[in-house]
Amino acid sequence: MNARVTMDTDGKRVDLPVITGTEGERGLDVSRLREQTGMITLDPGYVNTGSCTSSITFLDGDRGILRYRGIPIEELANRSNFLETAFLLIYGQLPKEDEFRSFVEVITRHTMLHEDVKRFYDGFPKDAHPMAILSAVIGALSTFYQDSQDPTNPEHVEISIHRLIAKVPTIAAYSYKKSLGQPFVYPDNALEYCSNFLRMMFSIPAEPYSVNPTIAKALHLLFILHADHEQNCSTSTVRLVGSSHANLFASVAAGVYALWGPQHGGANQKVIEMLERIRADDGNVRKYVEMARDKNNPFRLFGFGHRVYKNYDPRALILKKACDEVLGTLGTQDPLVDIAKQIEEIALQDDFFLSKKLYPNVDFYSGIIYKAIGFPVNMFTVLFAMGRLPGWIAHWREMMADPKVKIGRPRQIYTGPTQREYVAIEAR
Ligand code: CMC
Repeated sequence: MNARVTMDTDGKRVDLPVITGTEGERGLDVSRLREQTGMITLDPGYVNTGSCTSSITFLDGDRGILRYRGIPIEELANRSNFLETAFLLIYGQLPKEDEFRSFVEVITRHTMLHEDVKRFYDGFPKDAHPMAILSAVIGALSTFYQDSQDPTNPEHVEISIHRLIAKVPTIAAYSYKKSLGQPFVYPDNALEYCSNFLRMMFSIPAEPYSVNPTIAKALHLLFILHADHEQNCSTSTVRLVGSSHANLFASVAAGVYALWGPQHGGANQKVIEMLERIRADDGNVRKYVEMARDKNNPFRLFGFGHRVYKNYDPRALILKKACDEVLGTLGTQDPLVDIAKQIEEIALQDDFFLSKKLYPNVDFYSGIIYKAIGFPVNMFTVLFAMGRLPGWIAHWREMMADPKVKIGRPRQIYTGPTQREYVAIEAR
């Protein structure tokens, strides 16, 4: 017999079904609660609320487990590449050889932007944040592909997926070139995904450029680790926008904006700014740890803490190791690495952080690697978005395929004034 929870309210007894996931997670199905009792649930920040069932990513924050479609993140980090992981997330299984070849080929064929898109960049200020440009240009893609935006048409969805994955690196690299005043570098379809992106970012037409394989490999790793994280703020945004049957470009553009916030993807930029600030302050790590502990000080250690992980974020573990390897191979000495390690060491022995279960998250070491590669700090969150794109797409697609999905429309408990009269302006 399926488990149920019984609730007594206003002399009425209501049975609420318990839903159990494949990993044993349990949730109370309250979908008929209002109909049966007249009450709604109230859960600010959705801390206890499951918005959907999903078969894409499993995350156990207490045990530090993350799996995409059942495959541990550690294995994907070691053995996969970004486009293969994207395929896995979006279509549910690892591609066979011919499937992967066709997927890569179709992505490669869509890397260029319409020439008119380039002119949008003329209108943005030189110092525009590239996250704003990324979202604006992704949204603008919907003006160029008006014939293929029906979210219920599988062919339209398929071509939009290919266009997005292919064009986002070009959009991102152009925003960087714009900030430098350098010419845009067209994609080179002879190069694989990350190498092509690096070339569009860092080459100039006047000089030869060769991709450093260590850097391309590091980028694949970073993108894989960021590729999905179930119902986080930006993914939930993509789902919510998509639930109104807005097209994929519109939904993803909204997700980019949600990711930008410093409590979410924007934290990777904030981590480096914080480490720089500590370095400029004589490397006084203890002072900043104290500031983070102080209840009266709003300062937080960026790159620490997570809504779901109450243990070491497995992505941070992988990145800490990768950080040493990449910087070692590139021969880069960065004093920020020492500062980061000191913070971690002090925080992980400190009662405040231990009792609140605050551990380094994915953003803590990623920025140091991006910086060593040569990315400017304001591109860090754009890189997060490039990695997260397959996750957003996978969730949007899963939601659209679910016949039970309704438009997302939370309710509220109203706490404003009760009915009162309109008073004419001269009498107020
Ligand atoms: N430094 C100091 N104190 C912290 C921190 C931190 N980084 N994170 C949480 N706390 C404290 C917080 O003050 C609160 O204390 P109290 O119980 O006394 O009020 C307690 O820990 C719980 O924090 P919360 O804000 O209620 O927890 P949350 O689940 O709502 O927030 C978080 C999670 C990630 C927004 C938060 O930990 C944070 O702001 N961290 C810094 C920003 C960051 O690194 N974000 C990246 C997250 S991982 C990648 C991603 O999702 O994009």
